[in-house]
Parts: sequence; structure tokens; C-alpha cells
Amino acid sequence: MMKVRRFSTAALATVYVAAQIESLMTREAEPVLGLATGSTPINLYRQLVEFHHQGLSFSHVTTINLDEYVGLAADHPQSYRRFMDDHLFSQIDIPLANTFVPNGMAPNLDRECDRYDAIVNAHTIDLQILGIGRNGHIGFNEPDISLKTRTHVIDLTEDTIQANARFFSTEAEVPTRAITMGIQSILQAQSIFLMAFGRDKAWAVKRALSGEVSTEVPASFLQMHPNVTFVLDAEAAVALDDPRTPYPDQENLGSRL
Ligand code: GLP
Repeated sequence: MMKVRRFSTAALATVYVAAQIESLMTREAEPVLGLATGSTPINLYRQLVEFHHQGLSFSHVTTINLDEYVGLAADHPQSYRRFMDDHLFSQIDIPLANTFVPNGMAPNLDRECDRYDAIVNAHTIDLQILGIGRNGHIGFNEPDISLKTRTHVIDLTEDTIQANARFFSTEAEVPTRAITMGIQSILQAQSIFLMAFGRDKAWAVKRALSGEVSTEVPASFLQMHPNVTFVLDAEAAVALDDPRTPYPDQENLGSRL
């Protein structure tokens, strides 16, 4: 049974998740965090930086990120490696060698997926942070007729490309492929906190929690995990109360089905 924690604001929800991470970090000798990018966790990372300023050390922490765009160098302003460096790693005392993000510039992407899987399998992720795409994707596991279990290269859906376009100056620059941890890799974590804020996510949240597992809504696979908490603000929870909430943009189903 998935747990759902609702908060009136995203700010409160963020403090809740930050406190879970802080508690894990003080409990475990060598905690491993699974981290996500996107706008949703930005304030979570800000909160962790604040905790660091209050004395919380990250020197014993390992982080494993979910995904990275193919074709963006680590220092590209929109790469996920750069996102993590800017929002978290450069502001805390974590050894950079303990931070893992797939390499989107690897000359051989299949080999990069194998390398990343080996990293994922060599660690037990104690606490995995997830956001959710408005089409129900997690990491970059997009809706499809089948889902890959392990780390793989994925063609992004039109919906995701459009959702990401706001970060790039021209549409031609928006990456169309990504490397992402697979569904099984994500489900290997000991505990999972999926954060979703805003009405745009309400449909995906509702479908993910619906009691049915479907490759059309990759986040629904989280129902098969024993320790998942959905952390929602009021807007992301609206469809749980009103089942008629429509898909955010009926024009862009964002699915290849
Ligand atoms: C991106 C990321 C996901 C993220 C999602 C939602 O495509 N790969 O990890 O959860 O989209 O992003 P946001 O938090 O900006 O809504």
C-alpha cells in the first residue's frame, strides 16, 4: 500500500522530505541517496544546503542520479550533472567522487548503460527521491507498450520534449534522448519518496495511485514496492478527490500507445 502525505503547500512538503533525508543521514554510516532533477526537488536541495549550513555533513553520503540527457556535456547549463552541481553538490561537503550521474556524452551509450547499472547494483539506495512527469514518467521511463527494467537510452516523448523546451532557447536544442535508470533499478531502493506539486501533476498522481499497474503510467509500477510515499501539495492531490480531473493537455497525450 502506497502512503500518501498531503500538505497544503509545496514548501511544507519539501521540509517533510528534507527531514526524512536528514534523519537517514544521521542514522546510517554510509547512506546512499537516489536523486532526481527537475523543478520539483530544487527547494529540497536548497533545504539540504541550509541544513548543511547548520552543521549537517554530507562527507559520508553517496548519491546516484536517475538520468541524464544524451548529447549534453557535464558543464552544459541544462545538463543534469550541472543541475546537481549547481543546486547541491557545489554547496555541500560531499566528495564529488561519491556523486554519480550518467554520462550523456559517452561515445558508446550501451557501454555507459552497463557501467551505470554496475554502479546502481554495487550500492543499495536507502532513499530514492522521485519527481513525476505530467504523463506519469519517472526518471525518463516514458509511457510505452513495454518498459525497460535496467538503465537504458530512451527517446523522449513529445510531451516531455515540450515540457522541457522552456529551459532551452530554441526547440532544436532540446534533447530528444536520455539515459535513464530503469523501473527495476528504481524499485531496488529501500524507500522511495515521490514528490509532486501543482495541478499539472494531478492526473499522473491519480493514475499512479489508481490500483492498476500500466506501462502507460510508469509511476504506477511503484505500487509494487513495499515502501513508497507520495508527498503532495494540495494541487497535485486534487484528482484524488475529484476523479473527473482531465489529463493536463488533451492535445498532447505524450504517449506512444
Ligand atoms: C523530467 C525528469 C524527471 C522529473 C520530471 C518532472 O523530465 N527526468 O526526473 O521528475 O521531468 O519535472 P518537474 O519537476 O520539473 O516537473
